[in-house]
Amino acid sequence: MFEAFRAIEDLKPVLGDRLVTSGAVREHHSHDTSRLPPSMPDAVAFPESEGDVQAIVRTCAAYGVPVVPFGVGSSMEGHTIPIQGGISVSTRHMNRILEVKPEDFLAVVEPGVTRKQLNVALRDTGLMFSVDPGPDASLGGMASTRGSGTTAVRYGTMRENVIGLRVVTPDGTAIRTGSRARKSSTGYDLTHLFVGAEGTLGIITELTVRLHPIPEEVSSAICAFPNIRNAVEAVIATIQYGIPVARVEFLDEVAIGGVNNYSRLDLKVAPTLFFEFHGTKAWVGEQAQVAEEICLENGGTGFRWSTDAAERARLWQARHDILWATKAIRPGCDLYTGDICVPISRLAESIVAAREDIDASPLTGQIIGHVGDGNYHTAYLIDPNNPDELAEAERLADRLVERALAVGGTASGEHGIGIGKLKFMRREHGEAVDVMKRIKAALDPAGIMNPGKMGQAG
Ligand code: LAC
Ligand code: ZN
Repeated sequence: MFEAFRAIEDLKPVLGDRLVTSGAVREHHSHDTSRLPPSMPDAVAFPESEGDVQAIVRTCAAYGVPVVPFGVGSSMEGHTIPIQGGISVSTRHMNRILEVKPEDFLAVVEPGVTRKQLNVALRDTGLMFSVDPGPDASLGGMASTRGSGTTAVRYGTMRENVIGLRVVTPDGTAIRTGSRARKSSTGYDLTHLFVGAEGTLGIITELTVRLHPIPEEVSSAICAFPNIRNAVEAVIATIQYGIPVARVEFLDEVAIGGVNNYSRLDLKVAPTLFFEFHGTKAWVGEQAQVAEEICLENGGTGFRWSTDAAERARLWQARHDILWATKAIRPGCDLYTGDICVPISRLAESIVAAREDIDASPLTGQIIGHVGDGNYHTAYLIDPNNPDELAEAERLADRLVERALAVGGTASGEHGIGIGKLKFMRREHGEAVDVMKRIKAALDPAGIMNPGKMGQAG
């Protein structure tokens, strides 16, 4: 595209070697972890400051060239794929932790800081950053996708944990949203407009995030169940009882088989719950005891709990490595993933129906879930070169979403819209989609920010 060429020529003297046009680097920024087809950016910029980001956005705005923010590329629905070319803006070098304020339980970071990097830096403060998607994602990307992970049931998603931002808007202006106060009743909630906007309204250049005290004691537990329904009912009962579980994860039989193999565990192959409890020594013991009683009442067997840090780390590493474990079930396969969230009262029937769908299909598939939130994922193992398998996975994933929407749920609990879920926006949000489009048009009239996605299509 001629305009992109001119934007690149203008940016070269400003960015120097922070602007890259080599094939290998462009290729790396042409895809994410999803099955969706790649598309190359014309160049990749590596800004080191908000000023660099402003220069990039202003230049691209002048020529009408697409700007697509990129964190570590771990998004799962094609969010970072530059489907109309343009400049991919990597936040990799904006990875400074600017401030940690333990008394206020907050940290201020640049968008390229990853969740593990922040937790390493917090080591001596007694505090932690809780949000933990599977990969070591960047906080800018996690905020942009309103990401979460295994601890959302207790500590919330990025929605609850981002309290303020700096953002470069599509005309190149840098704004600050939110404050450091615990609460505020002033103004439109712009922080939460940009959290989850998937880079379609601006580029996040700084985040103020909430921190939580590291609990004095942590214990984990696992329990196997005779069927999915019993496992989910145990979760609902645990939450209704008021046990503040820090994590409660569901893995179906296929997933357990996968982690046993990949992470060398020897768990019973059955629908299983992984729990984690946070608190004082006495309190985690009591929580585990009540959870055990509830599990047993719901047919659970082999309840095992432990405060051993090494055992716990192994268990949760296995959970976080689950995508790789799943891929290893069928070497060479691609994963077609589903991600829905339903009201917890509808969770058991929803997972059972998803499992029945897979069992009736020729494809292999597994179900894992952040079940305390009513959120779960399916993964269908497909041969990337077999269009019939792709079509079958799409059919299953579509049915999953249709069922979720029919009971008041959502097309994505945490993986976001990207390209993959655009087709459900209207179904889920109705006329509110037109309001979203008006917001997009107001903030980005030229449509340069991550174009062709949320706020324009769907
Ligand atoms: C997980 C990712 C796939 O839950 O969301 O592991
Ligand atoms: Zn997940």
